[in-house]
Amino acid sequence: MNRRTTTLSAAVALAAALALTGCSSADSDAAGSGAEQGPALKVSGAFMPQPVMDMAGGFLTITNSGKSADKLTSVTSDISDDVTIHETKNQKMQEVKSFDIPANGELKLERGGNHIMFMELKKKPKQGEKVGIELHFEKSGPIKVEVPVEAPNHNPKQH
Ligand code: CU
Repeated sequence: MNRRTTTLSAAVALAAALALTGCSSADSDAAGSGAEQGPALKVSGAFMPQPVMDMAGGFLTITNSGKSADKLTSVTSDISDDVTIHETKNQKMQEVKSFDIPANGELKLERGGNHIMFMELKKKPKQGEKVGIELHFEKSGPIKVEVPVEAPNHNPKQH
């Protein structure tokens, strides 16, 4: 029984030591980087294929050069009061609550995958026009993007 207690307390001590190590390295990180702790988001490559019905998809890439992750939680736009974010699984799309934007990573919304969904369009934008949208995040402030409308079959991945 004694031996068992010893083994157990050794394990607890080890776990505690590991936890301490984790803590102190996080602390030194914080000390080293000052104000650049939060997510730092940048949007690129946005486009909307010209809608053929009264719905449209939106695609873009959000790059996070910051040290903490963020989440895309919602999108708003003048052209629709019903804008949601969708993932595509087994060729079927379904609404999600949020998309992760990892620290030092990116979130890609692209054809055949994750996308922004605009339903019941108030007007149908034409190729060459721009659609104003606003991206909302869990931590970062909102980002406004002027999304260019491209040809209905536009796909930057197909060269
Ligand atoms: Cu969709």
